[in-house]
Amino acid sequence: MKVISRIILTIAAICINIAAFAADSVSILSPDGNLTLSVNVKDGVPYYDLSYKNIPVLSPSRLGFRLKYERGYVDSMCIQGSVETTVDEYWYPVWGEYAKVRNNYNELFVTFTQEGSGRILGVRFRLFNDGLGFRYEFPEQPTLHIFQVEEELTQFNLGSDYLCFCMPGDYDTNEFTYTTSRISDLREQIPLQSLAHKGYEAQSKGDLVLQTPLMLEGDNGLYVNIHEAALVDYPAMELSVDDKAFSMSACLVPNRNGEKAFKMAPCTTPWRTVVVSDKATDILASRLIYNLNEPCAIEDTSWIHPVKYVGVWWEYFVGCGKSWAYSWYRSARPGVTDYTKIEPNGQHGATTQRVKEYIDFASENGFDGVLVEGWNEGWEDWSGYSRDRIFSFDRAYPDFDVKELHRYAAERGVKIIMHHETASNAADYERQLDDAFDFMVENGYDAVKTGYVGPVVPRSEYHASQWMVNHYLYVAQKAAEKHIMVNSHEAVRPTGLCRTWPNWMAQESARGTEFESMGGNPADHTTILPFTRLMGGPMDYTPGIFQTRLSYYGQKNDQWARTTLARQLALYLTMYSPIQMACDLPENYRRFPDAFQFIKDVRVDWEDSRYLEAEPGDYITVARKAKDADEWFVGCTADENGHQSSIKLDFLGPGAYQATVYADAPDAHFKDNPQAYIIRTLTVSAKDELCIKAAPGGGYAIRFVGQEPLKKVKRGKTVKVNC
Ligand code: NOJ
Ligand code: CA
Repeated sequence: MKVISRIILTIAAICINIAAFAADSVSILSPDGNLTLSVNVKDGVPYYDLSYKNIPVLSPSRLGFRLKYERGYVDSMCIQGSVETTVDEYWYPVWGEYAKVRNNYNELFVTFTQEGSGRILGVRFRLFNDGLGFRYEFPEQPTLHIFQVEEELTQFNLGSDYLCFCMPGDYDTNEFTYTTSRISDLREQIPLQSLAHKGYEAQSKGDLVLQTPLMLEGDNGLYVNIHEAALVDYPAMELSVDDKAFSMSACLVPNRNGEKAFKMAPCTTPWRTVVVSDKATDILASRLIYNLNEPCAIEDTSWIHPVKYVGVWWEYFVGCGKSWAYSWYRSARPGVTDYTKIEPNGQHGATTQRVKEYIDFASENGFDGVLVEGWNEGWEDWSGYSRDRIFSFDRAYPDFDVKELHRYAAERGVKIIMHHETASNAADYERQLDDAFDFMVENGYDAVKTGYVGPVVPRSEYHASQWMVNHYLYVAQKAAEKHIMVNSHEAVRPTGLCRTWPNWMAQESARGTEFESMGGNPADHTTILPFTRLMGGPMDYTPGIFQTRLSYYGQKNDQWARTTLARQLALYLTMYSPIQMACDLPENYRRFPDAFQFIKDVRVDWEDSRYLEAEPGDYITVARKAKDADEWFVGCTADENGHQSSIKLDFLGPGAYQATVYADAPDAHFKDNPQAYIIRTLTVSAKDELCIKAAPGGGYAIRFVGQEPLKKVKRGKTVKVNC
């Protein structure tokens, strides 16, 4: 059996150095010597600090815990000892931006003891060339068994007024637009008007709380990203901001009873991560969060595969009158109501006929899957009511013929992608999970999109509290047993767990394309997401809107996407996911066959990736090499100001390449000329440079195909595309 994440043990050196005596302070360097981490104790309180090329990143920042009902790790601590280790190894992801990942760090494991209680707390620090990860470890010990974390005291003392790319703290959702603001201006800039939302309890007490991943840019030339890795059996971490001291501290998401983490020693916390560089592109290329996750837990991964899909989906959002529900009867109940006896609403989207049209389109154009939403009983009364037993996951509406569609899709080499909207009734979903997954296996489905819209049941929980964190992982693990791939929407933001569970292919967990029909995403949204949301794992952003003005579907619809058509193509590169949707309607793709060709050609799994240029909030340009051919793809997404690139093609192999460039036309603009694009075919080599422009809210996408036989190429040239 193929074992993924085969750890090739090129562990160059494992040097263990046990400090034989207690010290007040211990420190290590990153393998390249650029980062320094020190750990010390002052007045009984443990602190750590971090610098990069001698520039302070974090000044002494507190470590520790307050525990409920008992003495926490707050005071009287001292360093009992420390152990240093070095690891240098490679692992091989099942899918991803890179076929091979280096995991190289120096580790410092510090044991603290507490005077009086005799309790022990371990902190494991791993210092990579691109940042720091550390986690707490509670060993088995006579005085600590089952305990409740009242608050984690971890601090991130930034010490200067960084520019933040951030969203407000919330216990339930990350579907916000980003705010770009200095720490000192956050109080004015962060949209606190939404304080009424139930998840804003912290803010309503006057605290300023942000979500992670938090992207920061400093006047000291540093880019810093704070997040977490391997969020397992613990609440998500948000950051409480002291906007005077420029400091952040952990603020764990509670349940509705105000309880945070229930733990039992021996146990660990997730890793707290601080990715650092003086180049923004290094943040995007960082694998630190994945490296801190456990290796793949699935022995046979041969059934996990990248997926490009279309689906009965966008038509629910554009205002053309399609509905998920079969009828309008709010009293219709899954498994109780005989749906064949109630009148259909005439607007049901997931009909056998419509799904067949999508299957035909998918098979004609080389897509692997067709997502079908609205196929199952329960949509009549689903969103936001916290009612129990809303959906059935193995009962189809009468006009959706499961068996026939399975046959029809299989004959055409396409798979239907299952949809489980749970309406956040996670308790009911767990009850139905075995049956739901068995139904999928019986009917030829190997991928499921899950959804958690609305308030959570159990009603004590939030989307990011410990119980729900455990739920999402439980679903991914159960799915792995049945060889099912998972794409979860509205789940807690990811923390690299897809390394361990690579069948958990993608998540939404941020504001995706659906919002283009609900007020729109700002033009710079996709220049921030890779620096934030994508740090923890792939996003099912569902790109590919060609018809960006929704008035096309009805005069009164004033919704529109803040993007050019060419930029939609670029998102297949800049928004990495091994499961990528082409979300627009087949009818729209047929109107632009030449641009659609790019979506057909682009890959979703890569040998190698190179971030060529990037500035959070402004632009991102990435080149990616196909796994199966001598082909490279480049994508660039720009904010409302547009961007002009001069890209050196030195990532290409030897010989000539044919480049097909999909760029904004010179007069393209996301507001009033979004569909103006040009397509150019060029012959180029690694010695050349391309001058190419992204319009305001625009972008470009390029496919490079290596030409055979290899011929010597001429001297380098600069090729102007639309400049
Ligand atoms: C929200 C999801 O993000 C969207 O993709 C889905 O269509 C709806 N919920 C309904 O499940
Ligand atoms: Ca959503």
